[in-house]
Amino acid sequence: MNPGLRELFHRSTPPDVAPGQKITAEWRSPSNIAFIKYWGKRPGQLPLNPSLSMTLEKAVTTTRVTVVNEPLHPGIGSLNQQTGHPFLPKLQHLYALLMEEVPWISSWTLEVETQNSFPHSTGIASSASGISAFVLSLLSIMRSFAERPMTDASFYRAASWLSRLGSGSACRSVYGGFALWGATESVPGSSDTLAIPVDPYIHPDLKSLRDAILIVSSEPKSLASTQGHALMNAHPFAEGRMQQVDEHLKELMHAMKVADLDRMATLVENEALSLHALLMTSHPDGLLLKPASVEIIHLTREARKKGLPVFFTLDAGPNVHLLYPASHEEDVKQFIEHQLIELCSEKLVIYDRCGEGPVAVILPQA
Ligand code: DP6
Repeated sequence: MNPGLRELFHRSTPPDVAPGQKITAEWRSPSNIAFIKYWGKRPGQLPLNPSLSMTLEKAVTTTRVTVVNEPLHPGIGSLNQQTGHPFLPKLQHLYALLMEEVPWISSWTLEVETQNSFPHSTGIASSASGISAFVLSLLSIMRSFAERPMTDASFYRAASWLSRLGSGSACRSVYGGFALWGATESVPGSSDTLAIPVDPYIHPDLKSLRDAILIVSSEPKSLASTQGHALMNAHPFAEGRMQQVDEHLKELMHAMKVADLDRMATLVENEALSLHALLMTSHPDGLLLKPASVEIIHLTREARKKGLPVFFTLDAGPNVHLLYPASHEEDVKQFIEHQLIELCSEKLVIYDRCGEGPVAVILPQA
């Protein structure tokens, strides 16, 4: 299901942007944390399995895109005025893909400024927020030139579709609340090429879920996500994983519909440990958990046994996300401050929560 960028942004003639004229858009877009993990991909940046995530509120990237009609130097020459910025090739690749769909942007020069709300060294996925913020800004500028009217729903679908090509998890960040990427019989309208919002299927109480991110190590990621996904290509447990993830998704959707936190805890924790089990049994293997990560997991489970509604998830790294309802915010903070903080690198904990999704800071004049 392609949202049809070609048709959506169709123009019979290129827009009239005067030489030297500047058009700016700026979006603030969040990171997200997966409850059901995307791990492994097929050609075309398609996922091996469906994934489900919660969009965060505070871990955001703010990106400003300025278009200048300067046909001598088309494309994106720099990011934050640096030609060697590590994120620049991803944006250039994405722009090249977009030009194939919408050729009238070919003469544009783009200036891009981007900033993360979280310290770069914390290992919080910046590609999801960074890619989606860039895409939303760029597409808003293009939308202001579109000849045909466009609904917001079509705009976000296009943004999700394009974000996916930059980074898989980024396609889920264009929606607030909870988002699903990947075709599954469990959810009507789900697709491998873009994410869809799933809040209508989820108990409204879960919109107040909290996420405390315990930074166990702030060293740069030891495994790039692209290399990580490739480990699934010849993985001995790939088939079993596909069955498992389908069951997990179906069950989790049900648990989230009725806000069954106990069941959610079991499923979300099992997903996180399955991701790491797959990593540990890959060739080459990836042992990304640190002793402190494991210690936090044990202490969290002990606390839950004693009645504290808190559970964990993990990305492909050592940091631990603790999830809990707003009603127990103070209790969980106490638990973290008394029992877990010493296990964190420089006692760093980022208190985040389920968020409302990306926000347009500057929109171009139509
Ligand atoms: C473990 O989206 O970072 O966080 O598509 O190569 O950019 P690319 O990968 P990326 O992978 C995220 C993997 C994960 C699980 C998840 O977010 O679903």
